Amino acid sequence: MRHPVVMGNWKLNGSKEMVSGLIKGLDAALNGVEGVDVAIAPPVMYLDLAEQLLSKANSKANSKANSKANSKANSKANSKIILGSQNVDLHNNGAFTGDISPAMLKEFGASHIIIGHSERREYHNESDEFVAKKFAFLKENGLTPVLCIGESEAQNEAGETVAVCARQIDAVINTQGVEALNGAIIAYEPIWAIGTGKAATADDAQRIHAAIRAHIAEKSEEVAKNVVIQYGGSVKPENAAAYFAQPDIDGALVGGAALDAESFAAIAKAAAEAKN
Ligand code: 13P
Repeated sequence: MRHPVVMGNWKLNGSKEMVSGLIKGLDAALNGVEGVDVAIAPPVMYLDLAEQLLSKANSKANSKANSKANSKANSKANSKIILGSQNVDLHNNGAFTGDISPAMLKEFGASHIIIGHSERREYHNESDEFVAKKFAFLKENGLTPVLCIGESEAQNEAGETVAVCARQIDAVINTQGVEALNGAIIAYEPIWAIGTGKAATADDAQRIHAAIRAHIAEKSEEVAKNVVIQYGGSVKPENAAAYFAQPDIDGALVGGAALDAESFAAIAKAAAEAKN
């Protein structure tokens, strides 16, 4: 059984005040929501602050759980919000000005790392091969890659969607083997749906997710069956449930709506309800 994952990609948004407010708001709004992994990826500048706020929130949750039932099992209850990040370098140290290493991300408690986002592919010329190297380096360092794939509007209109997604995934499979996808997350984000309000229909998204899974299944049915495939692109509380009702959509990577605690929590709740 695949476990749903809803992740917020905050992109280049935030301030100390906003990060504090949003994490506190999320902690409250997600209270009692179970059966979905919820992750946030703030700008890297705020990982330290986010880590501190999350560990405070989690220790509060733990002490509540402990006083409820005084058992050892419960003392582990709940690191509710998983910390993530939006990018990573291919080195753990050295003369790479401006870059951030897996070791640094780990030190600040980030585990789920977005790579290959279309904004990085476009504005930083990141190729499939370069993204695949990041994928390998994250795995080598024990972190969870969230591999973004997806087609442009022109590619969509030309009927190339599945071929583009397959090519982007094959960059990983052909260099690292299909098993490298075990434990990783794939986020299918059609570029034309990102930040536009023009979301893919749930049926179209399901069709592409099924095709992506079938492509992976050509190499390994087991890996295909277990890999989490999120949908991303204008996901909102209003349309989230329709995506999560689809058998091959295992969660969402959320941009704009992740900047509002109530909206993001509503999306996470919709995933929990649909998948459990
Ligand atoms: P929006 O939800 O704002 O469309 O962004 C999606 C996205 O790019 C998440 O990575």
